[in-house]
Amino acid sequence: MKIKALNGFKDILPEQIVLWRHIEETARDIFGRFQFAEIRLPLLEKTELFARSIGEATDIVEKEMYTFVDKGVTMRPEGTASLLRAYIEHGLYAQRPVQRLYTIGPMFRHERPQQGRLRQFHQLDAEVLGSEHPRVDAELIAMAAMLLEKLGITVRLELNSLGCTACRPEYRTSLLDFLGARQDELCDDCRRRTRTNPMRVLDCKKPGCRQQVEAAPSLLDYLCDPCKHHFTAVQDGLKQLGVQYSLNKFMVRGLDYYCRTAFEFITDELGAQSAVGGGGRYDGLIAQLGGPKNPGIGFGIGMERLVLLLEKKAQGDVFRQQGVDLFLAALGEEAAQKCYPLVHALRQHGLRVAMDHEGKSLKSQMKQADKADAQWVFIVGDDELAAKSGTLRNMSNREQRSVVLSAAALYEAVVHEAFTR
Ligand code: HAM
Repeated sequence: MKIKALNGFKDILPEQIVLWRHIEETARDIFGRFQFAEIRLPLLEKTELFARSIGEATDIVEKEMYTFVDKGVTMRPEGTASLLRAYIEHGLYAQRPVQRLYTIGPMFRHERPQQGRLRQFHQLDAEVLGSEHPRVDAELIAMAAMLLEKLGITVRLELNSLGCTACRPEYRTSLLDFLGARQDELCDDCRRRTRTNPMRVLDCKKPGCRQQVEAAPSLLDYLCDPCKHHFTAVQDGLKQLGVQYSLNKFMVRGLDYYCRTAFEFITDELGAQSAVGGGGRYDGLIAQLGGPKNPGIGFGIGMERLVLLLEKKAQGDVFRQQGVDLFLAALGEEAAQKCYPLVHALRQHGLRVAMDHEGKSLKSQMKQADKADAQWVFIVGDDELAAKSGTLRNMSNREQRSVVLSAAALYEAVVHEAFTR
């Protein structure tokens, strides 16, 4: 029996790689413009790191983590906790008062796989650590918006404020009153959530629960003055930077570490998996993980969802593998022997070169050259061998001429003609 990949784990095939690289390169370019430095982090962390940051009573920690129970370690379900662990462990806060960091890589969550939802997925994750200035919130959100726009992806930005430890308890009490009176109408999960993590109920996707929470009190009406001012200033910042948004008072995010600004980029094109990215502020989290009392804010964008959206736009040509400069078509063993080191020498000089080793016919090799998108083909048969030369064909205009059978002559012909054309 053939062994297949695990459910929810996907290969990214060569024909898809160009698109993935395009996304990564665009992200690196945009993040660089905002002075974010890259950090690479391990895939495995102590389980406690995620339990303490994401929260014990979240879906992620309760049921979605890949945990090696006997080792006390977990495959990271997200990037923020690991990044903060590294920030604290290496004292990065001492190097610069405000650190802007990003990381790109796979995350693991044991969710039910469907379109846009995998068990191993990839995130572009960016975090600003050490500033609570609302301009930083707006700038970070604007950076994510700029990236999505540069990629040609249309999304809706939804914004909310989740308050802080000063204003949330009062809100929680009134939310509990509201939910307490509607327990019979809520699903089993939400009845449980009412006890463990009542704000999660606002986020339930079941139509029955959605209908019930429609009239729930909004945290925006309970914000303390500092949170209110902060939220107003974030919105002013977004307006100054020309970023469109709408308020969504029910957006609570799936992780418990958030306070104040929370946001999501939403698409209507991916069915239930509508969040292309999301993030928010987490001002108490660094201290909670044993670091200094520094505030922070960040976002994660799901790369598989970007890929799906870009594939829908069918930007075929842009995402073709880069072709070869030159294909050496050797006819017969002797010609192949001569061409073999030539190919290597040309590669050493920076050209992208291909040749066939299977002794195929000229017709078949020309097909291979077409498939490889070769700009030039150099044909070496018995006659050419005798004359110590080969026939160089320009694949765009089909012109051909004889070139001496040496790496130097070929290099000169290909590079010189490409340059003077
Ligand atoms: P998150 O909302 O859990 O936030 O994930 C961010 C994005 O990752 C989602 O919007 C989605 O595009 C993608 N994503 C999540 N789960 C899956 C999945 N199973 N399959 C495919 N894509 C998925 C976080 O992870 C936070 N760490 C973001 C953040 C950074 N907050 C502050 N800083």
